[in-house]
Amino acid sequence: MSINTSLQAVEELLLSVARSSVPLLSETSQHILSAGGKRLRPRLVLLAHAAAGGQNTAEVVPLAVAVEIIHTATLVHDDINDHGTLRRGRATVNSRWGSTFALLTGDYMFTKTYEIMAPYSAELNLILARAAIELVEGETLQIQAARAGALDRETYYQIISKKTAALFVACAELGATIAGAPGEWIAALRDYAFNLGLAFQIIDDVLDLSGDSQALGKNAGIDLAQGRGIAAVRDDGADARSVAAVQVTPDTAPGPLKESLLSGQSPQVAIEIGRAKAHELVGRALASLEALPPSDARDELQALAQQVVTRDH
Ligand code: FPP
Ligand code: MG
Repeated sequence: MSINTSLQAVEELLLSVARSSVPLLSETSQHILSAGGKRLRPRLVLLAHAAAGGQNTAEVVPLAVAVEIIHTATLVHDDINDHGTLRRGRATVNSRWGSTFALLTGDYMFTKTYEIMAPYSAELNLILARAAIELVEGETLQIQAARAGALDRETYYQIISKKTAALFVACAELGATIAGAPGEWIAALRDYAFNLGLAFQIIDDVLDLSGDSQALGKNAGIDLAQGRGIAAVRDDGADARSVAAVQVTPDTAPGPLKESLLSGQSPQVAIEIGRAKAHELVGRALASLEALPPSDARDELQALAQQVVTRDH
């Protein structure tokens, strides 16, 4: 079965998961799940599985669904935290139904993954559970750092490793493990996914500064206004190729801060340094793939890595 056919099976299962006996939960879950999205994480599960020689589509598709459901649940919760109003080109669940029902929608989707994962081994359940824990830790560290107005480069990397790269790693590990891949291939795919995840989040932060809300389908410019993201990393001058670029102080009001940053050179510096760093990380991701035997799936993983740094939404 081709990756696109498997992705179609993922879509069908995703929508069936969104069906609840409580109509409000069906409505809110379907609202966000049927809005599309890049489906990058399910793709990663499926491609890692195929690149590792796996052929059991029926077994891998629910794993791809589980990661997308967790990812979507975190976005619903993230939009409450970030006061986001636009997601995947639609009104956010919090802006349409309010924070309480958005919180419950995220809870509903998150707990649905227990059901999906129940038939799988403890090893696979642990891979996903540990990534979910890291997502919560990453989001917590980020809010804490933004409130303190002190985001150093190390903390920035710790945050993006946890809030983004951890789930990418879990995707690769789930796909490769269910394929019965040897340890060396699983390790190579984990490395690939980790670097890809970091690059993805850096570009996400760059696009928050340089992209527009309509193309992104979500609110642009809110990282800066909330003292986080790539432009909030304190420049300690230690490494010219680091993501660090702009000094944000807690006593600077968000409105004027945004204005001064956007009109000056600093965000441009953050954007350029961020892009360079993302390219470097993608280079590392591509190098890890060399440990795998050549295949169509490996080619697609290479293409996916390039898309992550060239994307504009
Ligand atoms: C998006 O970041 C947010 C995340 C990648 C993680 C959010 C995690 C939580 C809210 C913890 C809740 C967890 C569970 C398991 C329900 P962003 O704000 O930089 O991205 P954006 O620009 O897409 O909003
Ligand atoms: Mg957000």
